[in-house]
Amino acid sequence: MNEVLRVEHLSHIYSKGTPFEKKAVDDVSFSAQRGEFIGLIGHTGSGKSTLIQHFNGLLKPSSGRILINGEDIFQSKEMTRAARFAVGLVFQYPEYQLFEETVYADVAFGPKNMGLSKEEIDRRVRENCRIVGLPDSVLDKSPFELSGGQKRRVALAGIFAMEPEVMVLDEPMAGLDPAGCAEVFRYIKDYHEKHGTTILFVTHSMEYAAQMAQRIVVMDSGHILMDGTPEEVFARADELMEAGLDVPQVTRVFLELKKRGVDVDTAVYTVEQAAAKLRALKGGEGKC
Ligand SMILES: Nc1ncnc2c1ncn2[C@@H]1O[C@H](COP(=O)(O)OP(=O)(O)OP(=O)(O)O)[C@@H](O)[C@H]1O
Ligand SMILES: [Mg+2]
Repeated sequence: MNEVLRVEHLSHIYSKGTPFEKKAVDDVSFSAQRGEFIGLIGHTGSGKSTLIQHFNGLLKPSSGRILINGEDIFQSKEMTRAARFAVGLVFQYPEYQLFEETVYADVAFGPKNMGLSKEEIDRRVRENCRIVGLPDSVLDKSPFELSGGQKRRVALAGIFAMEPEVMVLDEPMAGLDPAGCAEVFRYIKDYHEKHGTTILFVTHSMEYAAQMAQRIVVMDSGHILMDGTPEEVFARADELMEAGLDVPQVTRVFLELKKRGVDVDTAVYTVEQAAAKLRALKGGEGKC
């Protein structure tokens, strides 16, 4: 594996030196390897959005460094500009990021800024709109005429079209109905499978984190509380609950079974795993 993103002792203080001073990120260090799918979890106000806005230079650290492919993104103006293209950021409620007159122009905005040829821009716009299920007929429409779910797709297509090395998605499913969530979930997963892009996915949903991420980073009060595989993280259910977080519903069921005296292994976080464990138990193979 090779490292694409490294965060070293990053701290961010809002409104420094005023009565409103707030240390939102406090000495965070971690790195992401090429192709990794990482879920970033933490209760509201734990510093997730603040942290990720540093990755493409939108926020400047109060202290610490961010390196992309080994280079400090604030070492020069050129590096900061390069970071904008290397790291694609989809904000919480990305529909507010849309501002162009047509869907086509909005999706083309990033690739255009990257200085790509007209043909390449056209290819990327059409291909990525198709990936997120936007028909050609909406390309000439104003993004403001679209439904919330469609706007979300336009914002996603715009980031996909930049083909960034690292894609950071801040609560991409927030405010969508279950069908909309499932769709967005699918697009991101498909994109990851196709391009092998490093993905950092901010979510409140343990269910999605459990289903998608190979690695889960848990934030609490500006710090990293846990960083490990879903098995490692969900095995620490008590600490998660103390940090105001939940574990997947299926994990909770297994924890409850154990509490009630059933000899089960509680390292279960997807329905598929639970089914396999229960099948093994039914088959009389002892401990499930
Ligand atoms: N622009 C700002 N100015 C001052 N304080 C801020 C600003 N943005 C965020 N904060 C504060 O910094 C802390 C971290 O906020 P942040 O938005 O990073 O959390 P979060 O984990 O993304 O929360 P959520 O899950 O609600 O999106 C909070 O206490 C928040 O009130
Ligand atoms: Mg946030």
